[in-house]
Amino acid sequence: MPEPVNIWAVIPAAGIGSRMEAEIPKQYLKIQHKCILEHTLERFCHYSRFSGVVVAVAEDDPYWPTLSVSSHEKLMQCTGGEQRCHSVLNGLRCLEAVAAKDDWVLVHDAARPCVRIEDIDILIDSVVSAGAVGGLLAVPVRDTMKRGDNANIVTTTVDRTGLWHALTPQMFRLSELMEAIDAALQQELFVTDEAQAMEQRKMLPLLVEGHPDNIKITHPRDLSLAELFLALQEKIP
Ligand code: CTP
Ligand code: MG
Repeated sequence: MPEPVNIWAVIPAAGIGSRMEAEIPKQYLKIQHKCILEHTLERFCHYSRFSGVVVAVAEDDPYWPTLSVSSHEKLMQCTGGEQRCHSVLNGLRCLEAVAAKDDWVLVHDAARPCVRIEDIDILIDSVVSAGAVGGLLAVPVRDTMKRGDNANIVTTTVDRTGLWHALTPQMFRLSELMEAIDAALQQELFVTDEAQAMEQRKMLPLLVEGHPDNIKITHPRDLSLAELFLALQEKIP
C-alpha cells in the first residue's frame, strides 16, 4: 500500500476541564509521574509516521512551558480557542505553513492518553486502503440504548444497530477539514468532532473499530481507570 506523502497530528489541549472539577486543567493532572498531556504527546511525537505534531494550548497557559516535551523537535504550538472546534481550526491553520493541502491530519484529544499506536496504524491504513474521505476510531455501542425525558423517565428504546461511540484520532485531508470546520462555524454550528463538520458537507468518513480503552478522561473517576489502562498497556509485550 503506498504511504501517503505526509501525515500530521493536531492535539487540542486548550480546555479547562470543567467536569473534572480539579484546580488545574485536567490535561495537567498526573498519572504515574507524568501529566495526561505528556502521556498523549509522547505517543504522537515518538511515532515515526507523523511528520509533525501541533498542540493547541490556552493563551498564557502557565503549565505548558514547564513540560519537557514542549521543546520536542517534532512539536509546534498554537493558541487554542473558545471551544474545541476553534482550537482544532487554529491547529490546522498552523499546519498550513508546513503541510500540503492534501496531507492527512489526525486530530486527537489531549484527554485521551491511552490511545494505542496499533489503533492509529489501523486507522491510517484502513482510510488509505478504502480510499475514504477520512475516518475515525470508534467503538460499537454494546448496551441497550434508552431515550429519556427531562425527568429521566424512559420514553423509548433506541435501536442500537449501526450506533457507535466516536473517539479520536479522526483523520482527514488538511484543506478539506479546514474548509469543513470553517463552513460549520460560519453557520454557528460548533461541531464537537471533525467528522461532524465533514458530514455537514456530505463527505462521509469511515468508522474504524478501535480498542475501548481509548477513553476521554472527563470525570474524576476516569483518572484511576486511565491509570489502570496505561499500566496494563505497559505489560503488553
Ligand atoms: N479543548 C480545546 N479547546 C477548548 C475546549 C477543549 O482544545 N476550548 C480540548 C480539551 O483540552 C480536550 C479535548 O479538547 O483535550 C476534548 O475536550 P473535553 O474533553 O470536553 O475537555 P474540556 O473542554 O477541557 O472539559 P470540559 O468539557 O469538562 O470543560
Ligand atoms: Mg469540553
